[in-house]
Amino acid sequence: MEYRVLKNCRVCGSERLREYLNLGRQPLANSLSNSPSGKSKKYPLSVLFCQDCSLSQLSIIVNPEILYKNYPYNSSVSNTFRNHCLELAHSAKMLLAPRIYRGRESKHFALDIASNDGCLLERFRDCGFDVMGVEPSKNLAEKSRLKGIPTANSFWSSNRDYALCDPHKPDVITATNVFAHVHDLEDFCRAVHKNLSKDGIFIIEVPYLTNMIRNNQFDTIYHEHLSYFLLRPLKMVLRFCGLDVFRVEHRDIHGGSIRVYSSREKRKVESSVWMTMNKEERDGFWDFKTYRSYSSRVRKIKSDLGRIISREKKLGKKIFGYGASAKGNTLINYCGITNTDISGIIDDTPDKVGKFTPGASIPILSHNHLDTNHPDYILMTAWNFSSEIKEKTGHLGCRYIYAIPEVRVD
Ligand code: TMP
Ligand code: ZN
Repeated sequence: MEYRVLKNCRVCGSERLREYLNLGRQPLANSLSNSPSGKSKKYPLSVLFCQDCSLSQLSIIVNPEILYKNYPYNSSVSNTFRNHCLELAHSAKMLLAPRIYRGRESKHFALDIASNDGCLLERFRDCGFDVMGVEPSKNLAEKSRLKGIPTANSFWSSNRDYALCDPHKPDVITATNVFAHVHDLEDFCRAVHKNLSKDGIFIIEVPYLTNMIRNNQFDTIYHEHLSYFLLRPLKMVLRFCGLDVFRVEHRDIHGGSIRVYSSREKRKVESSVWMTMNKEERDGFWDFKTYRSYSSRVRKIKSDLGRIISREKKLGKKIFGYGASAKGNTLINYCGITNTDISGIIDDTPDKVGKFTPGASIPILSHNHLDTNHPDYILMTAWNFSSEIKEKTGHLGCRYIYAIPEVRVD
């Protein structure tokens, strides 16, 4: 089956789901094609709000075997992300008591779920941890093994055995930017509970829904992202599975994320947890009314961006995108931008170069391309890394088009 329709909220089981955004039928945002005439299949893309637990979620679930067959995302390309990972490894270390095994102090053990190319685990290793990754994509698992990181090529599930045994169960399990991809959250968290050491901690990082709504980040909506989280539903699903949230931190990464710490054994619940919950409720994010005007703000971005691009094309200007990200593909396809509007999208991920974006079929080019083909404009398709991209392109003297949070030219 290619996809199935969601009937109940994946956190609380409620049927009281209401749509607040419909982006029409869209191709899978990461399904890059090898030829410019490659046809991409399209699937409905709309977001529903659960009126009982406030989880935002897609109306359909595409078969993960189709979505993750060959996943082009590569964490280590961005410096910003590498630094972010180092900071995460440090803060995990600060929370752990020394580990004593057979009378001697031994290394802590970190396991990363959906470990990608091993970017986060390399940082944990630098902080003195033993590490292990679990990664469903074959090409990325292989990449991570080449860095000397033991990696199981598998989805994370309570039915699988990851060959972890006491007393070597992980002290830390991390799941950064993977929770949004998971349909069966309860099974996922039960697997964490089963595999985590008794006094261990589980750290989740997800883009925070309040930013997606406030800053019109509709481009982060694509078929891989099944859920868009507030703390409220996250806390709920963790509690069902015997994990208690004790700390919440806010980070700038990916347009604004929350880092949620939970544990099997009770720890002192820090004020950040209650402050975040109270603010969500006070700011109206537990109420459908807050989401009503979102769709018209998104439509405005589509018309403003279309207007600017067609005006500049008429003037003969050359426009490139920077960052062949999944979110760039949602933006481009939803806004109806074509490969005559944009000459190419630059990306520093070697695996992406030479391919074509799904739907619009825009060629993905390496950075060198800009030296011979001077752009007049760069469309920031990876706005979450805009400062890094500006550093790399500042010498070209071009201008930048931003679509998020609203359309503007710099
Ligand atoms: P992401 O927002 O999904 O992480 O995607 C960002 C994309 O931008 C990814 O394909 C890598 C690309 N990128 C570059 O090519 N060069 C860069 O300097 C940065 C920061 C990102
Ligand atoms: Zn719900």
